[in-house]
Amino acid sequence: MGWHWQMMDDRGRFITFEGIDGAGKTTQIQRVQGWLLNHPAWRSRRSLVVTREPGGTAIGRQLRQLLLAGPSLAEGEGERLDEGAELMLYAADRAQHVATVLVPTLMQGGVVLCDRYVDSTIAYQGYGRQLNLKMIEVLNNLATSGLRPDLTLWLDVPVDAGALRRQRRSPGEVGDRLEEEGRAFHERVRSGFAALAQRDCDRVVRIDGTGDEATVFAQVQGVLRDRFRSWYGVELD
Ligand code: TYD
Repeated sequence: MGWHWQMMDDRGRFITFEGIDGAGKTTQIQRVQGWLLNHPAWRSRRSLVVTREPGGTAIGRQLRQLLLAGPSLAEGEGERLDEGAELMLYAADRAQHVATVLVPTLMQGGVVLCDRYVDSTIAYQGYGRQLNLKMIEVLNNLATSGLRPDLTLWLDVPVDAGALRRQRRSPGEVGDRLEEEGRAFHERVRSGFAALAQRDCDRVVRIDGTGDEATVFAQVQGVLRDRFRSWYGVELD
């Protein structure tokens, strides 16, 4: 392993998107993908990989099913997914993703847009479920071999706004295991992202996610323009 590509010029870049459920990550990632791929300054210059956790690999998609199944599957046989087991399944998904998708793409100079990464484990399992943060850090390091994002966009919305968006997206539907957690849980998760943004202020940029899609996207574009200029010298106006 080792991170020798960090020494290379023109190396790949790893960008993650984080936030509570209903923050609008998925929509913004799609917009960024469309913007970059159609931009004359970008076109066919380097590969762009859009992926997510959990579920960015074939094995990960099986883990995702286990992780997010609502009461119907996870508790169908009277068995709940243990919190420690949940934590390790996220780590297993991540290890597979890092080894088979993220590292190979970055080694070839590609840019990765990833929906959730280690910060989600810190926020959801650490702050939300209140599992030991040191243990999570050790597990994250094991799963990632130390691969850190170059940039993390934290789409921040209040818990109520996130819940409202989720309801609008799928009215009347029973949410997944985490969506069904109560308000206090999601408040803790949000405070976890806030703590990370404060701790890793060079890496994590807070985006106000409360406006409409276009307004939020304008902020995302602003941050990415600056970064791509300093990373690659390209002007994405
Ligand atoms: P996400 O893919 O954003 O949900 P959806 O596509 O349904 O909007 O995230 C799935 C859930 O997984 C989300 O509730 C947060 C949770 N999660 C964790 O709890 N820990 C983790 O490490 C990760 C990556 C996700």
